[in-house]
Amino acid sequence: MISTQGEGEPPLLAQKFYDQLHETQMELKKMNFGVLALGDTSYAQFCKTGEDVDARLEALGAHRMLPLKNVM
Ligand SMILES: Cc1cc2nc3c(=O)[nH]c(=O)nc-3n(C[C@H](O)[C@H](O)[C@H](O)COP(=O)(O)O)c2cc1C
Repeated sequence: MISTQGEGEPPLLAQKFYDQLHETQMELKKMNFGVLALGDTSYAQFCKTGEDVDARLEALGAHRMLPLKNVM
């Protein structure tokens, strides 16, 4: 579960997780995941961080158990 802050950026406390997830080349084939993205439709980059995390986990080979859910 992750929100979006700034202009489509991760919240401060999630920045390290977000950066490392995008820097690693580790294969995550044994990982199952589902992302709940919190955001606000009044922002242009609605729920972008959650969408980024969802896409990156899939790119690293993890198995999406549940479709991405955007929550306002
Ligand atoms: C400064 C600021 C920037 C934000 N930027 C975004 C954004 O780019 N995209 C988005 O979907 N939500 C954005 N939000 C909304 C937050 O994701 C939202 O407040 C958070 O999910 C918590 O929900 P709540 O305010 O209903 O408790 C922003 C909120 C703040 C305060």
